[in-house]
Parts: sequence; structure tokens; C-alpha cells
Amino acid sequence: MTAARQLTINKEIVTVESPDDEPLLWVLRDRLNLVGTRFGCGEGECGACTVLIGGRPVTSCSIRVGDVSGPVTTVEGLASPDGTLHRLQQAFFDLQAGQCGYCISGILMRAVALVDRRGADLTEAEVRLELDAHLCRCGDHTRIVAAVLHAAGAQQ
Ligand code: FES
Ligand code: FES
Repeated sequence: MTAARQLTINKEIVTVESPDDEPLLWVLRDRLNLVGTRFGCGEGECGACTVLIGGRPVTSCSIRVGDVSGPVTTVEGLASPDGTLHRLQQAFFDLQAGQCGYCISGILMRAVALVDRRGADLTEAEVRLELDAHLCRCGDHTRIVAAVLHAAGAQQ
């Protein structure tokens, strides 16, 4: 059923009209023009479309918009309003983690949740396990893991 619904996206309340069963990813990209969230496989397998819902990473291709029950954060919501990058974004930039960048927005979102949860106690093994849900066809895993640990202030 198509309905107008209110969603909280990046701390703003927005109204969108869409079918209940439309994937959140389509709503973000096609209705709200938040194209930083990427379409990869469309089947919950690659992690490219990961956003935070209520602070937890969720593949937005796999959840119907009608089932979204918490505030959504996309990669566009990470930086401060004055343009200051989130510490994870800054670490990825500083360590040049990522080549084509296609996978990075999804990885950033999962990493934000991980670093928020574990802080400086985070270990390399935990980062590798958590990011196993994400495919990076450029094979930039080593620098990505290093950037996450750097942002967490963890030992490397
Ligand atoms: S596009 Fe959603 S997991 Fe691949
Ligand atoms: S940086 Fe290209 S797919 Fe990961």
C-alpha cells in the first residue's frame, strides 16, 4: 500500500510517499536523493547499502520502508553541519583507505557503530570479523582496517 510516512533521516523529519514494501535503499536514493548510500547486490550480501537504524547497521536494500522503526543515519549525516568530518571519515581520508570508494560509505556506517561500541578497546580481529559483511572489490582491506583502528584510537 502506498502511504505518506514520516521518517527521521540524519536528524531531520522528512515525509515520503512510497509503498510499504519499497526497500529503504530506494527511498533514500530515488525519493530523497541521498545517493551516498550505494546499491551493490540488492540482496543483502555486499554491504554497500548499509545505514544505521537506531544506531545499528542495517543493509537498506533488505528492509522495507514500512518496517523502519527508528532514526536513520546515512553517510550524509556523519559530518557536522559545519563540514567537519566524522573521525572515521577523517581517518579514511588521512590513511587513504579506499580506491574507487564504492564500498566505503557502507563500511563507514558499520565502522561507526563498531567504534562507538568498542572505542579504544577495539582489536584488529574484531574489525576484520565485523567488516566481513562488506565486499571491497578493490582489495583495500588492509588500509580500511587500519583506518578503523586509527579512528578508534586502538593499538595497532
Ligand atoms: S546492495 Fe544491499 S547488501 Fe548489497
Ligand atoms: S574501494 Fe573500491 S570497492 Fe572498496
